[in-house]
Amino acid sequence: MVTLTYFGHSCFLIEGAGRKILIDPFITGNPLAPVKKEQLKVDYVIITHGHGDHFGDSIFIAKNSNAVVISNFEIASYVEKQGCKMHPLHIGGAAEFDFGRAKLTIAHHGSSLPDGTYGGSPAGVLLEIDGRRIYHAGDTALFYDMKLIGEKGLDVALLPIGDNFTMGPEDALEAVKLTAPAVVIPMHYGTFDLVKQDPQAFKQAVEKETDAKCIVLKPGESYQLR
Ligand code: NI
Ligand code: MN
Repeated sequence: MVTLTYFGHSCFLIEGAGRKILIDPFITGNPLAPVKKEQLKVDYVIITHGHGDHFGDSIFIAKNSNAVVISNFEIASYVEKQGCKMHPLHIGGAAEFDFGRAKLTIAHHGSSLPDGTYGGSPAGVLLEIDGRRIYHAGDTALFYDMKLIGEKGLDVALLPIGDNFTMGPEDALEAVKLTAPAVVIPMHYGTFDLVKQDPQAFKQAVEKETDAKCIVLKPGESYQLR
């Protein structure tokens, strides 16, 4: 069984194969975060790109948990210098971990780190855990190659709908059509005024126009894949 728990913005805890994987831990300064950074003890921290609303509390949580940070080479090197364990990947590259497999996928966005350091290319991540395939798109525009990401089948796609900095609801709907997941969970909305959206309207559009089921999670809520 794989469980996804939403902590607001683009932060998800994924539990499966006896491991805990935290993606984009923006907790401090996230008005929607239902937990404190001290509460998060995990095995892996995945960072899609360097922006503060994704890099977030990565260093604190990774050190506090003795977790391995998985990110692109530039971000992995950056956190290693600050004392974190890390595994560097880069776009298109996958590796096996004790939870399964992780591959970095393209994302059209930026990636500077909070202190201005170059953060390499932004990414999405495709995870295989307990036989399930989960795609976290990171921050990105819509791109047609999403079709390739979905081609082997996706159990869950985590897609930004906030607009302004990423895809908005209309493009995210196209992303659902391209990736064809069984379940889509919207993210990267509602945190700030600039990314205000109505997730229920998105859910209606998805379920009207595609075969995917749309699950809207409130921060702190979980979704289980059985
Ligand atoms: Ni960003
Ligand atoms: Mn962002």
